[in-house]
Amino acid sequence: MPASRVPDVLHIGPYALPNALFVAPMAGVTDRPFRQLCKRLGAGYAVSEMVTSRKDLWDSLKTSRRANHEGEPGPIAVQIAGTDADMMAEAALYNVQRGAQIIDINMGCPAKKVCNKWAGSALMQNEALAESIAAAVVQACAPHGVPVTLKMRTGWCAQHKNAVQLARRFEVVGIQMLTVHGRTREQGYKGEAEYDTVAAVKQAVRIPVVANGDITSPEKALAVLQATGADALMIGRAAQGRPWIFREVAHYLATGTHLAPPLVEEVRQLLLEHLQDHYSLYGQATGVRSARKHIAWYVRELPGGEPLRRHINTLEDCQAQYQAVDDYFVQLGQRMQRLPPSSTLDTLMESELDCLAEVAA
Ligand SMILES: Cc1cc2nc3c(=O)[nH]c(=O)nc-3n(C[C@H](O)[C@H](O)[C@H](O)COP(=O)(O)O)c2cc1C
Repeated sequence: MPASRVPDVLHIGPYALPNALFVAPMAGVTDRPFRQLCKRLGAGYAVSEMVTSRKDLWDSLKTSRRANHEGEPGPIAVQIAGTDADMMAEAALYNVQRGAQIIDINMGCPAKKVCNKWAGSALMQNEALAESIAAAVVQACAPHGVPVTLKMRTGWCAQHKNAVQLARRFEVVGIQMLTVHGRTREQGYKGEAEYDTVAAVKQAVRIPVVANGDITSPEKALAVLQATGADALMIGRAAQGRPWIFREVAHYLATGTHLAPPLVEEVRQLLLEHLQDHYSLYGQATGVRSARKHIAWYVRELPGGEPLRRHINTLEDCQAQYQAVDDYFVQLGQRMQRLPPSSTLDTLMESELDCLAEVAA
């Protein structure tokens, strides 16, 4: 197996990152508890969920939760989204004053809420505006020594892939790292990510380029690195309920061999700690609901996972939810020491699945 070309140490401005495997920003998912967990399990860097540039929303509970970085290992990177250069510069400063050490500009999000306001990946359609936003944010951050990075897609649509042109413009105005998700805005999350455009961006600029999109396994991570020559990889959806994917990828890139799947007991402890941290950030009433998706992701491929998910959705009390998860993993641990590798899940015997379904009922 060829050694990976991913650098041991990657710098963003003055910050040396422990490795070049990043957690993708995912609104509603990559909150502080989840980011911390990913970092503990091998991610070298995490960008927080996007914070709007709209001042009227800065005092909202949602925004203040998103700006929570208590105990998070640095550097603290905050993503901002918006459509107006001055407002974006102000939003960057607001976050710098609250502890952001790196500002990331969102030009990758296809969500309607963002695109209707001409933000996120919609900005890629207007190169002059996109460049002026990047320049304004860089200028606002420079006196504070805060590097600015930017995340984008390959372009607006298949006929208009302008990531390379934009990347050159962003580099000139002082953007210090670029992440490229290998889809167009038009694709949303459909189709497959392509990496030729990411490779072309890497060739076109001297700043670090991060490849993102559909990295779901250690093998895919290596293939994307080889196809793009990227300086780092960013993983989003495949880390949902599987935050240990970072150490699995890191191990594979370093050695060409696979780590054993995690012990059921380790996953039990990780998830229970994740839940405690989640409840303490969101409070009991909100936390019990917002934790459901995380639990569902952890167990989605596991025997009895679907009945557990349905059961969890009926519970409105954190303690009951926590207990149900604990019971499920204790019983799973009596049947298997380690999580099954994904490829063998399909072959689990029906009786085994039935048995575990009872646990969740
Ligand atoms: C639920 C969800 C929320 C997302 N929120 C953001 C966001 O706030 N900012 C952003 O730049 N990208 C966001 N993305 C895009 C991801 O960062 C990433 O680019 C995309 O999921 C592709 O990577 P993946 O295939 O590894 O998931 C989001 C994606 C998902 C699934």
